[in-house]
Amino acid sequence: MDILFGNKPLIKEEEVEWALDFSENQVIRNLPTFTDKFQKAYSENNFYHPIENNYWTTGFWTGEIWLAYEHACEKKDGNEDALRAAGEIQVKSFLNRIEQKIEVDHHDMGFLYSPSCVAAYKLTGNELAKKAAIMAADQLITRYHPVGEFIQAWGAMDAPENYRLIIDCLLNLPLLYWASEETGDDKYREIAEKHIHTAIKNVIREDYSTWHTFFFDMKTGVPDHGATCQGYRDGSAWARGQAWGVYGCALAYKYTKREEYIELFRHVTQYFLEHLPEDMIPFWDLEFTDGDEQPRDSSSASIAACGMLEMIKYMEKDEAELYKGYAQKLMKSLYDNYAVKDFKASNGLVLHSTYSNHSPYNTCNHYGVDECNSWGDYFYMEALTRLHKDWILYW
Ligand code: GLY
Repeated sequence: MDILFGNKPLIKEEEVEWALDFSENQVIRNLPTFTDKFQKAYSENNFYHPIENNYWTTGFWTGEIWLAYEHACEKKDGNEDALRAAGEIQVKSFLNRIEQKIEVDHHDMGFLYSPSCVAAYKLTGNELAKKAAIMAADQLITRYHPVGEFIQAWGAMDAPENYRLIIDCLLNLPLLYWASEETGDDKYREIAEKHIHTAIKNVIREDYSTWHTFFFDMKTGVPDHGATCQGYRDGSAWARGQAWGVYGCALAYKYTKREEYIELFRHVTQYFLEHLPEDMIPFWDLEFTDGDEQPRDSSSASIAACGMLEMIKYMEKDEAELYKGYAQKLMKSLYDNYAVKDFKASNGLVLHSTYSNHSPYNTCNHYGVDECNSWGDYFYMEALTRLHKDWILYW
């Protein structure tokens, strides 16, 4: 394999440390506004506004609190109690959300409950968090279709126009593995495994770019066709979808140990890297590159870095060093050119992400373009934490 970006610098240990310190302090500064409330999915003019716990993204903010808590505990800097208390308040909100079934009729239970409640349980043994996360896993498996063997992403379960999975869902599945581990009931793991297999078989194209969404025939379960929602056009590779693919293949391997997923990880990652612009931070769709007047999606860089840092645990030394190097280069570029360094400029962590950019050829709404977004901030902190220590996953 050709080594790409050979001349790019790696993020230094002291830069990782600085960025983690800044992130922890930024979380602390945000607590007065965002303890009883949550950060909106995306900033407006680089500032997040508070929302109730009723959107698919709120777990990322709670995840930032837990990552900051881990860092504070390591440094013993006096912020530990405030962070833990805020995390515990948010856990109660997540328990209430799943008990009351507030906006949980979709597949994003993993995005919601892994970085919030699984994290809280793993770090502090919080029993309410465990209860909430198991209820969320129960909710997630209600979306499984035996006909087609996949978990449906969005919408009513009995409508052919909703009979599809999306690549993002690979990050929702660790919740099911965790639930099987905790309860001793294999049903969660079995569904996760079926979905992973169906997803990976269908969303990865021959050239290792990826479909955002994939439809199945509702009567027979036969794979039907791919389509984009948030990418530029059907045949293009939505940058974040490709990044979910990188991290998704790494997690698929972690949980199934199927060798073919390592090979797919290599190819999907290669496609991602080969379609990056000069500074390594992707435009919102990999169709675009330097010279195109298009917004970036910096969150994809952090997500892909996390996937690489997970996958290297299962690789031989030389290959592991190669992917660690890519992750360090992605993080260096984010740190130098995209990360917030002055809290007066933003209450987020990473600028220039894109949530949902409408094009003439896609079906999504237009919001959160060239802003911070909540998962961009969370995965930036996760990647920094992974570079800093041997991190126990929330996923
Ligand atoms: N999972 C939705 C997104 O990445 O925007």
